Amino acid sequence: MYYTIKWEDDVVSMLDQRLLPVEEIYRHYTHYTDVAHAITSMVIRGAPAIGIATAMGVALAAANIQAKSLDQMKQELHEACDLFYGTRPTAVNLSWAIKRMKSIISAADNVDSLKEQLAAEARKIHEEDVQVNKKIGENGHQFLKDGDVVMTHCNAGALATGGYGTALGVIRKAVEEGKNLKVYACETRPYLQGARLTAWELMQDNIEVVLITDNMAGHFMKSGEIQRVIVGADRIAANGDTANKIGTYTHSLLAKHHGIPFYVAAPVSTLDVETKKGDDIVIEERSVDEVAYIQGVQIAPEGVIVRNPAFDVTPAENITAIITEKGVVEEPSKKGITHLCS
Ligand code: MRU
Repeated sequence: MYYTIKWEDDVVSMLDQRLLPVEEIYRHYTHYTDVAHAITSMVIRGAPAIGIATAMGVALAAANIQAKSLDQMKQELHEACDLFYGTRPTAVNLSWAIKRMKSIISAADNVDSLKEQLAAEARKIHEEDVQVNKKIGENGHQFLKDGDVVMTHCNAGALATGGYGTALGVIRKAVEEGKNLKVYACETRPYLQGARLTAWELMQDNIEVVLITDNMAGHFMKSGEIQRVIVGADRIAANGDTANKIGTYTHSLLAKHHGIPFYVAAPVSTLDVETKKGDDIVIEERSVDEVAYIQGVQIAPEGVIVRNPAFDVTPAENITAIITEKGVVEEPSKKGITHLCS
């Protein structure tokens, strides 16, 4: 059985998601700057998994630092936090994890115990995430009916979290409850998280999956083949507007047009009450090579101008319900999500 990320004896190990589904290779990091690079270079991705990797990276920084005093240690740890902060801007779980690690750093009064406390906190963040995902599954599976075809976009599964998954966690739970589901996985251009990761992950669990290209979604919704859409989130603003993988917004419009329920499944750590609305969410722009090349093969003319925003924002009014571990918000455009954060 594969794992997404693991902390053991001051080593952070992760499955290299860039190589899936062709190769299943694990990377082992003993220096925090390598963990930061693993996040930037997509060895690990998905908002909750990025948060966990960040926490483990900060714990590793503590293990790496040879500070002579507690003050110096704290100073160097803050610099390590800054490095992680700059890795991927849209997933709010990253700054959420940094905040948790920083509160341990601030309260510390001893270098050795600080190292242990940070390692323990990173492990806790990981363990909690798996439990949170299971709770999201419990809260959300009621929305998926026996016989449904459920469309998803990107990968919001075990690979994007500490394990089990958010959107795929809801699907997993529904299948565990004995419901017969079929998943339509959108390939998710340009980085192909749907084709490479979601299809692979669901096949590992023997959950029936059909791979479609992103531009087939409207066709299958119109023909009545898709009954529900469920996706994850990278950041949910106070008014319920939701940033998720590029293409999610288009699917939400199609779903609304065809009267198909559109669900967002995410942990409370993905809610960002300080961001009032979706327009205020910073959207990461990634390398144009991700669009102009596929697996190293050039598919666009040399020199063509390319754009590559990695996320888009789905307005709350297109979302039927936001499913979290603390409860479900139906019609989030009317209610917002701030009450879940108190
Ligand atoms: O660029 P990625 O692969 O990190 O984007 C991931 C997504 O958009 C996921 O849908 C989101 O992080 C939710 S993962 C539970």
